[in-house]
Amino acid sequence: MAWIEEGNSSSVASLGKEKVVVFQIVEAKVLATAVKQLKIFAPEIAKKRKPGQFVVLRINEEGERIPLTIADADAESGILTIIFQEVGKSTIQLGTLKTGDSIADLIGPLGIPTHVEKIGTVVCIGGGIGIAPVYPIAKAMREAGNMVLSIIGARTKDLLILEEEMRKVSTALKVSTDDGSYGYHGFVSDVLQDVIDEGTHIDLVAAIGPVPMMRVVCNVTRNKNIKTIVSLNPIMVDATGMCGSCRVTVGGRTRFVCVDGPEFDGHEVNFAELVKRQRAYLDQEKQALEFFQHQGGACQGGKS
Ligand code: FAD
Ligand code: FES
Ligand code: MG
Repeated sequence: MAWIEEGNSSSVASLGKEKVVVFQIVEAKVLATAVKQLKIFAPEIAKKRKPGQFVVLRINEEGERIPLTIADADAESGILTIIFQEVGKSTIQLGTLKTGDSIADLIGPLGIPTHVEKIGTVVCIGGGIGIAPVYPIAKAMREAGNMVLSIIGARTKDLLILEEEMRKVSTALKVSTDDGSYGYHGFVSDVLQDVIDEGTHIDLVAAIGPVPMMRVVCNVTRNKNIKTIVSLNPIMVDATGMCGSCRVTVGGRTRFVCVDGPEFDGHEVNFAELVKRQRAYLDQEKQALEFFQHQGGACQGGKS
């Protein structure tokens, strides 16, 4: 895996004698409250990526590295799609970028792709922003000839994303909201339980979303011995397997999500440890956001 330098004639600028490659945003769109989608021109990554993989980007040269799943990509146009929730300084700053802006760098595709094969019936579950990473998996599983039953959910209707896209790639789609404002009133795990109780035969569950959601889904499927994969999102720094920040425990073994994952057997994941490690820098993240807002950062586009 290496840094991939990209760009077309319109995205390569000259700075003195040095060639500076930038990644242009060809479309910036709001998908839901605090959820945004960027389409970025990155032909080398768009050509190589497979479902389940992610990129790491930096908004500018001072920016921190942000891992984001490749929600979709088109090899022909060279455009890849990322979808993100604004949860802190860097994602809020990323959300200020507009069509025509660019980001400083983008590496990928990273991570081990989803194992896609024809196995029968696959249930794809996406909770909240987790719908974005589960979408390419559902699409690939369907293309491989599986029956794809998808369950997507959000806290409330305004936060639900990609409903139409998921409907298109699924054999059947069920939707839930925690507050009952749309679809089934309850959690995606409740819908899964109903599907199981109806006697549906399931060969594989792929579940992506907040850790508590993935943990509950795994508890539901463990009782029925249904193989379940989850995609983990610990804090990542280098994304090369060197720094150790994305360390998780799976089946009693230490694994690095950036190079060994991001997908693992959900029945083997130590979720309690994952949650603890995800919260390790809360004070610093709060400070970074306060400093950014104090500077009027949200109005500054791609510059920090
Ligand atoms: P901060 O205020 O810095 O942090 C908020 C919370 O986000 C932290 O408490 C921590 O749990 C998490 N976080 C912070 N920094 C990182 C980091 N470097 N790496 C991972 N998590 C971090 N989010 C999406 O919205 N869409 C996606 O498609 C998506 N895909 C991901 C794929 C992978 C493989 C991983 C590891 C994470 C993914 N995330 C995704 C999470 C996303 O990277 C974080 O939300 C983002 O980095 C937060 O940055 P921030 O500065 O805005 O928030
Ligand atoms: Fe550094 Fe995975 S992010 S080892
Ligand atoms: Mg941050």
